[in-house]
Amino acid sequence: MEKGPLTLAIESSCDDTAAAVLHGLEVKSNVRHSQLDHHAFGGVVPEIASRKHGQLISAVVNQALIDAQVDKADLTAIAVTQGPGLLGSLLVGHSFAKSMALALNLPLINVHHMKAHVLAHFLVEDGVQSRSSISFPFLCLTVSGGHSQIVRVDDWNAFTILGETLDDAVGEAFDKAAKLLSLPYPGGPEIDTLAQQGKARFKFATVKIPGLDMSFSGLKTSFIQVMQRHQQLHPNTLIDDLPDWCASIQKALISPLIQRTTMAMKQEGLRDIAIAGGVAANSHLRSSLTDVAKHSGWSLHLPPLSYTSDNAAMVGAAAHFALQNDQIDHVSSSAKARIPIDA
Ligand code: KG4
Ligand code: ZN
Repeated sequence: MEKGPLTLAIESSCDDTAAAVLHGLEVKSNVRHSQLDHHAFGGVVPEIASRKHGQLISAVVNQALIDAQVDKADLTAIAVTQGPGLLGSLLVGHSFAKSMALALNLPLINVHHMKAHVLAHFLVEDGVQSRSSISFPFLCLTVSGGHSQIVRVDDWNAFTILGETLDDAVGEAFDKAAKLLSLPYPGGPEIDTLAQQGKARFKFATVKIPGLDMSFSGLKTSFIQVMQRHQQLHPNTLIDDLPDWCASIQKALISPLIQRTTMAMKQEGLRDIAIAGGVAANSHLRSSLTDVAKHSGWSLHLPPLSYTSDNAAMVGAAAHFALQNDQIDHVSSSAKARIPIDA
């Protein structure tokens, strides 16, 4: 058995029930059960999500311990996502973590879900940091189903929002667009895959927002108008030209992210840039940013795909920094649907 801090991390903020064991920042196991029950409904159903978390949490935690070959008696800390997220879902993971911390007499570390997405860049696997080594300060584009933010990260717990969406998150916009194209949920990966065989030949009206903020809800209205107009001349266009629709929608959603991120990098005079969250898996976002970074002389940090969507290893990464700074929480703390990242 290795010596040193051994953390069990739990994530249950949305529709993934996840647990991981970390030795410091080194990932020993990372188990994730994505609840497929929501697909038939075209989106996450909060009541189903919390019920499924309740059914799965114990088995997922046990599997994480087995994969890491760690006995729970050897753990030295319990970390858990406190929020933001779906309250019913968060409560399951949070209560489970509190019970374990109490029963095993271990420190409890509450983790902010979006900070965890960002701090996943520091994870180490098989002795190697996930990608090129990253250090503070850096800029991070955090893009998921619930958030779209450009944040300046000065330290593990010093996040400043420079710009954010004023309405829908970009992942949500991907999912809504996919629904219009009769693609299954979650739509982001579907659009991404189909777009690779298409041409971005359809143009949509964009909303001009000053500064570094963004807006995605207006694009949905424009998609509908452009699609309906085109369908009048080509009734089968949504089937015949599906890859082109996907490529066009993807470009319309990713372009403002690239444009705002570039503005933010110039404004802040930073050299390091990272992306995080579910939409960080998007191939067009990754390749476009790679090109811009090369041209601008930035050091770009792309997370491995296993750490883009919700996972518990990222929660363990955030907890590692908290533990180093003696930031322990009380078992009387509770889960919260909303917690600002810059608090
Ligand atoms: O971070 P995440 O797993 O959960 C939240 O905290 O929201 O992000 C899920 C979101 C979904 O909206 C999904 O459609 C989107 O990330 N997503 C993608 C891709 N993979 C996942 N969007 C675009 N392209 C992808 N390849
Ligand atoms: Zn997330």
